[in-house]
Amino acid sequence: MRSQDMSETSEGTNHRPKLFVDTVGCQMNVLDSELVIARLRSQGYELTDDPLAADTILFNTCSVRQHAEDKIYSALGRFKSLKKKRPNVAIGVLGCMAQKDQDEILKRAPFVDIVVGPGQLARVPELLEKARSEKTPQMAVSKARTGGTKLEVVDSFEEFDPIREQAMRSSPYQAFVRIMMGCDKFCTYCVVPATRGPEQSRDPAEIVEETRLLVDQGVSEITLLGQTVNSYKFRTGDGRQWRLSDLLTELSDIPDLRRIKFITSFPKDMTDDLLQAVRDLPKVFRYLHVPAQSGCDEMLRRMKRLYTVAQYDEMMARIRETVPDCAVSSDFIVGFCGESEESFEKSIELVRRSRFKNSFIFKYSPRPGTKAFELYADDVPEEVKKRRNNDLLAVQSAISQVDNQAFVGQEFEVLVEGPSKSFTGDLSAVSGPVQMAGRTMTDRICVFEGNSRLIGTYSKVRVVSASAVTLFAEVVTDRVTHGRPSAWTLPVIS
Ligand code: 5AD
Ligand code: SF4
Repeated sequence: MRSQDMSETSEGTNHRPKLFVDTVGCQMNVLDSELVIARLRSQGYELTDDPLAADTILFNTCSVRQHAEDKIYSALGRFKSLKKKRPNVAIGVLGCMAQKDQDEILKRAPFVDIVVGPGQLARVPELLEKARSEKTPQMAVSKARTGGTKLEVVDSFEEFDPIREQAMRSSPYQAFVRIMMGCDKFCTYCVVPATRGPEQSRDPAEIVEETRLLVDQGVSEITLLGQTVNSYKFRTGDGRQWRLSDLLTELSDIPDLRRIKFITSFPKDMTDDLLQAVRDLPKVFRYLHVPAQSGCDEMLRRMKRLYTVAQYDEMMARIRETVPDCAVSSDFIVGFCGESEESFEKSIELVRRSRFKNSFIFKYSPRPGTKAFELYADDVPEEVKKRRNNDLLAVQSAISQVDNQAFVGQEFEVLVEGPSKSFTGDLSAVSGPVQMAGRTMTDRICVFEGNSRLIGTYSKVRVVSASAVTLFAEVVTDRVTHGRPSAWTLPVIS
């Protein structure tokens, strides 16, 4: 978010309304923003990356940790003076924070025009319209989990997966597809079951149709999204019970769809049929993101994760046995309530023996409204959380560094996604090779010199060296253009 003098921009006249969207948080939010933008565009809005040029500024927010919320409140603070100078600019808070804080947002930032929870996003255009015409803030949130019958609560979290629009995705070749909404696990530290509501799986026919449409638009890699994506279940009208493995099989039949990834899995629901699908379906990534959260039984019990460390180990053994080359990544929370040095050491041991591809590590952040907030004291000091975070990360990085060396000399097919993070110029102004990035079927990032023509292709690369997070590679080709480094000759498109 840029913090410039808000007075710089003059009110535009006679132009399509301009929309600026700031998205934080998980992939679900990225998808939600894409869908909201598409909907507003269909109503005449035009997207801008300059908030000062915008008539409508939307924040799609995250409540998983306090830090994410603090950032949004301070960003909102910066827009207060803009709103004073240009009262016609509409400001909206969407997503998990809107559902969690509701009126609190209007108390802290009374200049906000719309507050819309993740289960009400279809109403964004209508609410913007109403806020403008009635000049009063509009709020649309879903029912609290205990705010009605199960059906009433479910109904209040409306499905929002409208027709996809190609122009709105950051990549023309990759897309997210939601297969589930909400979560029913109720881990004690987590706001998601409250903010995203009850678990609801989408009809497989709809998922297949949406994917076909995306493929028609040029997408060749999809990522299926769900908070506990492997808990997917849906009974169709003919009485058939669909599991994630069935959906993967069905999606695999779509011609021109080349890759299918799914995130995030819940350890207890890692069934054998799913592992066999990962093993047997060549289009499915050999990659599982299965958060462990802790390596200590007492912590897992307090977190209400519904499995023990032994069960997690058993799941890892089944993964390794069924799909030996499968990459596994994990999440950990350090400094959870009551985590002693000894408990923490157990997380270190779990990381050591599991040999994850990578781990996402978070310092526990108490969230009002959760069971952990109510039941347990946040008793691990911030410096201790910080140290444990660094220590666990260091152990994971050392493992990734060692394990990645095994790939040196090997060849992989990658989907070339675009220039690597280190590239900052205008790609169209470059005629020679630049550093490109792509992922393997085990979700490993490869970086290599390549021409921008490679973007969107499936190219073969050979790994020449590796760090803990990146495989450094060169493009493999049997057509070498003389006088140029072989690394940027024509792509091998298999
Ligand atoms: N504090 C810290 N980390 C959390 N996560 C979820 N809730 C919290 C919290 N209150 C982490 C978990 C989850 C990831 C998305 O965020 O590790 O897997
Ligand atoms: Fe949160 Fe647990 Fe659901 Fe994941 S499984 S979204 S951590 S409640």
